[in-house]
Amino acid sequence: MKPHKISVIGTGYVGLSTALGFTTKDYSVIAVDTDKEKIEKINKGLLPFHEPHFQELLEKAIKTGKLSCVSTFEKAISDTDITFVTVGTPSQPDGNIDLQHIEKAACKIGKALQKKGTYHLVVIKSTVTPTTTETSLKHLIEKHSGKLCGPNFGLCMSPEFLREGSALSDVLHPDRIIIGEFDKKSGDTLEELLKEFYNKNTPPIIRTSLSTAELIKYASNAFLATKISFINTIANICEKISGADVALVAKGVGLDKRISPLFLNAGLGYGGSCFPKDIKALIACSKTLGYEPELLESVENVNKIQPLKAIELCKDLLTNLKGSHIALLGLAFKPHTDDMREAVSIPIINQLLKEGANVTVYDPVAIPNAKSIFKDKIKYAASAIQCLKKADCCILITEWDEFKKLKPEDFTKNMKKPILIDGRRIYNPNEFGKKLLFKAIGLGQ
Ligand code: UGA
Repeated sequence: MKPHKISVIGTGYVGLSTALGFTTKDYSVIAVDTDKEKIEKINKGLLPFHEPHFQELLEKAIKTGKLSCVSTFEKAISDTDITFVTVGTPSQPDGNIDLQHIEKAACKIGKALQKKGTYHLVVIKSTVTPTTTETSLKHLIEKHSGKLCGPNFGLCMSPEFLREGSALSDVLHPDRIIIGEFDKKSGDTLEELLKEFYNKNTPPIIRTSLSTAELIKYASNAFLATKISFINTIANICEKISGADVALVAKGVGLDKRISPLFLNAGLGYGGSCFPKDIKALIACSKTLGYEPELLESVENVNKIQPLKAIELCKDLLTNLKGSHIALLGLAFKPHTDDMREAVSIPIINQLLKEGANVTVYDPVAIPNAKSIFKDKIKYAASAIQCLKKADCCILITEWDEFKKLKPEDFTKNMKKPILIDGRRIYNPNEFGKKLLFKAIGLGQ
């Protein structure tokens, strides 16, 4: 049995990934959530979302008693010595971060700490804007526990950098660990746990203040989003230049070690529960501090327009969308997930419907989530081929592996008109361009 006992508050992506990550190395974890239905599901070993490897890990963790999910904080705090806070921090309508869930969690942690006689470490993993941990969360825990941060309980801010779709490998092999600490004892306690967990594979650890750690998370996501909006800008320039191809531009640029080839895939823009929300929150936070972050505003603006490039390209080949049949391959915001939050498929479908098109969609796992958004406004196909049947145009939206295997004949044989818009640059223009009416993001004609 490992010396540290762990609790996790919030069982979303970050919470379950953290919890399951610890169970792979024999730690016992108590997870807390307020959603009764979700708790029941997790305790039955049923994963509440799609993520590779997690179903098997969850079943094992529940069967062996390494993971249990509860609705109250008392047991989670009294029976463990380190608590990771992983509740959601969504956007408010004005872009500012919504702290209500994490503030409630801090109050409840405080109340549960009241009765505890031993040192307890609280680690904030949720993404929060700079100074939130020190000014708001520390104060709430102190107020509700009647204890002092430092001598009675420790406080760290350690952001998470995992990606949906590769959460397990990201949790087990992170590039770095950031430990923002209230005081040395808090940082030492977390570093000891993480060194015990990662052992010989411990990545570089950077110890910082709480607010520097908070900003590292935003700066990382903002930089990655900037790379994407940058390459999409280059893609849009390429489209105006005969013979230019953004995929090769990105290859040529990315081989420069100072730039790197990663996150230079041009496409229909970024989506998901993190980049859009975090860029908005960083912009709002920066403005509150009296600085106009023009670069970040441009990153966001480029991304807002980018999904509609798919429709623009579609209209180049299919002059009238009204009454046309459009097939969409992919709905999720990226492959290997069923997550539709801020997925670029949403504005694309809305615009197609607005222009009077009939829309049929297929995604290997995201259809149930899409149904709750679009209901019977669109048709749902059971396979990629069925989706293509009798379509006037196909737009590739999410780069699932099964779509990469499609051949030009799959389109020509099944579609009414063989028009393909490659929104993620997965098809070879030389091969597809010869057999189909083919357009792609960042491909000059
Ligand atoms: C992102 C970060 O990559 C993680 O490091 C971070 O922990 C996470 O947000 C978070 O803050 O929780 P995630 O949203 O899961 O992870 O997905 P990414 O793989 O980063 O992709 C985000 C979006 O960017 C997707 O819509 C993807 O299609 C798009 N993208 C990515 C591109 O358009 N081009 C690229 O080259 C890469």
